[in-house]
Amino acid sequence: MSFKHKHLLGIAPLSTEEIMLILETADSFKEVSGREIKKVPALRGKTVVNLFFEPSTRTRTSFELAAKRLSADVINFSPSNSSVVKGETLLDTARNIEAMQADIIVLRHPAAGAAETLARGVKSSVINAGDGWHEHPTQALLDLYTLREKKRDFKGLRVAIVGDVAHSRVARSNIHALTKVGAEVRVIGPRTMMPCGIERLGVRPYDNLDEGLRGVDVIMMLRLQLERQGRALFPTIREYSRLYGLTAERLKLAEPGALVMHPGPINRGVEIAPDVADSFASVILDQVTNGIAVRMGILYLLSGANE
Ligand code: CP
Repeated sequence: MSFKHKHLLGIAPLSTEEIMLILETADSFKEVSGREIKKVPALRGKTVVNLFFEPSTRTRTSFELAAKRLSADVINFSPSNSSVVKGETLLDTARNIEAMQADIIVLRHPAAGAAETLARGVKSSVINAGDGWHEHPTQALLDLYTLREKKRDFKGLRVAIVGDVAHSRVARSNIHALTKVGAEVRVIGPRTMMPCGIERLGVRPYDNLDEGLRGVDVIMMLRLQLERQGRALFPTIREYSRLYGLTAERLKLAEPGALVMHPGPINRGVEIAPDVADSFASVILDQVTNGIAVRMGILYLLSGANE
């Protein structure tokens, strides 16, 4: 099966088969990062540009490493040191970068829909590395990859996504991804952080954490997206942590062997207790490791190198 998309803008437009193709392609790259010389020539001669208008540790570094391990040339474009500060628009910036023969642009932007707008205006492939509240597809794909590695089968897997669901692009992409592959998804959080009509996405909402955690196989914790909350949605962080923070005691409500996930960055002592973040149940750093293989797979498929 070949990958028919020119861009990766979200999980919503992907079929289950396309999601599985990405995971299988990532499988073939996972061992490259364990080699002494962590490089294959698959994208030699191609240029990947990281265009990040928001801060990032994991996604930007992971895309850079993924592209370099595929032997692509990589440019990390920093808007704060560029002509963006002189008023150049996103599209003009991208078109100028493209004029230097960029093949793939990886975009993170605070505006929902920015990646789609860019994809319409340039000839390069565009990868959405997070656009506002909308989607963060590569995070959901690396989360699926990690779940498949640890739990083998998605069918019937009970996954709880906990926290600021309304403002989380990770939650939205994971809801699309997990429901497409047959997992049962619960979303847990205060009503002020739960989008109206979330049930229409095929998930079950809870506002009581203890109730929602009972019997789940996976707990995916979310950070409070304070940068996207226009007003206070909870009296205090301390109160939020008391009601929605994952503690070792609460982890016992889940199935034995339940996994704890978090896209990062984690706020220790807010949404997750430090001992839980560092426990055997936690696969948070496995998610980061798998991000490289998954992003190698995505870059490879979008470059057309497999055809
Ligand atoms: N998970 C994630 O997107 O992390 P960064 O913001 O550090 O890239």
